Amino acid sequence: MTKQSGGRGWFGSLSVLRFRRLELRPVRRRLRKGVSVADLRAVAKRRLPGGVFDYIDGGAEDELTLSSNVEAFRRVRFQPRVLREMGDVDITSSLLGKPLSMPLVLAPTGFTRIADPAGELAVARAAGRAGIPYSLSTLGTRSIEEVAATGSPRLWFQVYVWRDRGLVAELVARAAEAGYEALCLTVDTAVLGKRERDVRRGFTLPPKLGLSTVFDGLAHPGWTWQFLKSEPIVFANVAGQEVGDGKDAISLAEYVSRQFDPGLSWSDVEWLRSIWPGPIVLKGIQTTEDAVLAADQGVDAIALSNHGGRQLDSAPTPLGLLPGVAQAVGDRIEIICDGGVRRGSDIVKALALGAKACMAGRAYLYGLGAAGEAGVDHVLDLLASDMRRTMALIGCNSVGELGAEYVTIDDRSR
Ligand code: FNR
Repeated sequence: MTKQSGGRGWFGSLSVLRFRRLELRPVRRRLRKGVSVADLRAVAKRRLPGGVFDYIDGGAEDELTLSSNVEAFRRVRFQPRVLREMGDVDITSSLLGKPLSMPLVLAPTGFTRIADPAGELAVARAAGRAGIPYSLSTLGTRSIEEVAATGSPRLWFQVYVWRDRGLVAELVARAAEAGYEALCLTVDTAVLGKRERDVRRGFTLPPKLGLSTVFDGLAHPGWTWQFLKSEPIVFANVAGQEVGDGKDAISLAEYVSRQFDPGLSWSDVEWLRSIWPGPIVLKGIQTTEDAVLAADQGVDAIALSNHGGRQLDSAPTPLGLLPGVAQAVGDRIEIICDGGVRRGSDIVKALALGAKACMAGRAYLYGLGAAGEAGVDHVLDLLASDMRRTMALIGCNSVGELGAEYVTIDDRSR
């Protein structure tokens, strides 16, 4: 026996080595590196010019809220139950009266084509394939109609309220005509937050070609080639309108303060209700008091959100708000937890603390920036399989059974 194995010698022992097949297709290669959303973020960081990556990745001021959104999830620990005859875990759910294949909505993100030329179309198609809703931003770079033409079945339209209310009414009518199911009114943007990474770089939308961006572009030839050969990136919903469609490089902060109405109030919610027959979601609720007002106003859902840490720095985290808000209004309106979701286990935690679903923005943008449409599919697969695994490990068979008994908040790391 000893003699035999000795006979195979050094060459014989090589037979135990298994080399991974070299992946020549670049998208597949990038996806293979994406074992987690954090990995895809790293790939996107390498692929995208610095200014573009920072526009997506960054937050307001000291980015305290940006990091605490993520940190809040880390402070929640599970209380797993065992010996519970786990079968196939069911992560399906419902929102606004319709089924969801998993409790997630893809958040509105302006200027999505900056990450990949297919932009909003890619994200809408991926959401449709995954069986979840996608919310197109007012500042989308594909129009309401173009996104509807993807055939993605559950589309929401996110509304920023222009000073010109006629324009808002027109956009809302277009969304209704195109079959959008809900309006998502963003209420945390009286003015634009100070996103210091963008300010430092003098970043404009679309990126202006100056000396530094030329160098940045040369260092990221894949992105630059796609950017140069695809049609100009504009705010497609208002293309050609007087308000300006972003064709000429603009600072987003200036644009927002010139065009959006800081005088937005609860009476505008009432007005929106009068011109929109479907469900309304208020995105950007940050206190229990406002959650109660929203429920009194009769909106269908709220998204607890600080805009992914891009607006008010030191704002409360959506996850931290959840238990109090769920207790106050959970029986009257649906609660969405928006911000900081990087793993499927984060969604499980939010649901255990009272959310009906989560929203995520950067998670899919990292996928889009890393590997285009396939990258978004990949992120959604990761989040769904994370959710199934986590629920199996905590002994919970279905989303409906998730409750506070499955989690505890770890205060030691505060
Ligand atoms: C956003 N967000 C956003 N929200 C909105 O209502 N309208 C918009 O146009 C945008 N644009 C936008 C661009 C980019 C690049 C990001 C990252 C985010 C906020 C978004 O809808 C959501 O609230 C956050 O992304 C949630 O935080 P996470 O998931 O990114 O941590």
